[in-house]
Amino acid sequence: MFKSLLVILLLMGSSISAYAGNDKRVQLIPKAGAHQFPFFDYLTPVWSYNGKVPGPVLRVKAGTTLIVDVDNQLKEATSVHWHGLRIDNTMDGVPGVTQDPIEPGERFTYRLRLEEAGTFWYHPHLNAGEQLERGLKGVLIVDERKKLPWSQDVVWLLDDWRLRKDGTIYPHFNTRHDLMHDGRWGNAITINGKVKPTLVVSPGERIRLRIINGANARVFAGSLAGLPIQVIAVDGRPVSTFFAFDHFILSPGNRVDLDITIPKDAGGRIYQLEDKFTRRTRILGKIKVKNEKPLKTPQFAPPKARGFIPADIFEELPVTKTWDLNALRGGRYGIGWAMNRRLWPEADKATFKIGQPIKIRFANSSTRLHPMHIHGAFFRVLEVNGQPEVEPFTRDTVLVGPRESIVIGLIPEHEGIWVAHCHIQSHADAGMMTSIKVD
Ligand code: C2O
Ligand code: CU
Repeated sequence: MFKSLLVILLLMGSSISAYAGNDKRVQLIPKAGAHQFPFFDYLTPVWSYNGKVPGPVLRVKAGTTLIVDVDNQLKEATSVHWHGLRIDNTMDGVPGVTQDPIEPGERFTYRLRLEEAGTFWYHPHLNAGEQLERGLKGVLIVDERKKLPWSQDVVWLLDDWRLRKDGTIYPHFNTRHDLMHDGRWGNAITINGKVKPTLVVSPGERIRLRIINGANARVFAGSLAGLPIQVIAVDGRPVSTFFAFDHFILSPGNRVDLDITIPKDAGGRIYQLEDKFTRRTRILGKIKVKNEKPLKTPQFAPPKARGFIPADIFEELPVTKTWDLNALRGGRYGIGWAMNRRLWPEADKATFKIGQPIKIRFANSSTRLHPMHIHGAFFRVLEVNGQPEVEPFTRDTVLVGPRESIVIGLIPEHEGIWVAHCHIQSHADAGMMTSIKVD
């Protein structure tokens, strides 16, 4: 009786705050579009949200309910998944698990209660190997309740494309080659759809730079030499101790938020964001400092993680679930990517209890990369190849390298069925996905 009264009061509370103007409503229209790459004299046909590649940056303050009306104008079914958000399970955007596909011409409304500030992104969760690659993705920023006085708050969404000489996107997805390797790596890298863009800043400015890897498969190891930089958030959540940004591995799905102070004497200089993941260093983008009088540097402390999961909770705990990652013959494409030798949807699924600490081992028996992502949860890396690992942050995606074995710890907090999968889209499309039921 008391309990139900409490529920009613809580419900009233939330509807009152809704009337208090804490809702924001936006429309996302997946549809055909066109994009100008600098290599061609003509536009490249893409699939877009609202006609733009990448889609609009959705930006709200923590405490807002974001209502997103999706109006599917593609010729195929789609869905929108909100990567990194811990929201009501029915809003998670996974066809066959949390909703039906949004058919062409149909609409679906997502209601996202956004309590935690951070850097997130959105993308389809259906035929994802093709839909993301054709351009469907965008960034979602939840701002802190109390605005931080950054000089600039900049979003850099990394992506790569496999383009043909005729200016079109290479139209074969999940090819044998992609499946035998680390998915589809493109031949053109972009930031916010542009090739090697330049961010212009003033000496003395303090910038928050949010970097998101939205590529289908490419892993970046980012570094920005010459500037004092601190990593303040990983995968949307504040870190517990700030640390220097140097060769930080960003696998598909990962995000990193940087706190960059431009030195007062840096006028006229140019700094480069470089990728050093492969043997060939690539310049991704530039920061150009104007030659002018330095501005006053804002002084404040960015938030640090409060509810960090202490590693000792997991100390005595045996591994709850092991997922072996490997390829096998079979499945839709002839080559399947399996978790415990099973392919989605015939997966080896798990059920965990809410509030109970869980240890998961991802054991990569293959020689390929698998950035493993879990929906609706964040976790901590505990062990890499049997050695304890201490990362001062939590994640929602971790790269499991060739033959590597990684143990993670998490405490399920949200009821529902949450998928866990490799974020290399071809691998996921070829079966490398399972689900975790939390009750
Ligand atoms: Cu960005 Cu299921 O993932
Ligand atoms: Cu994989």
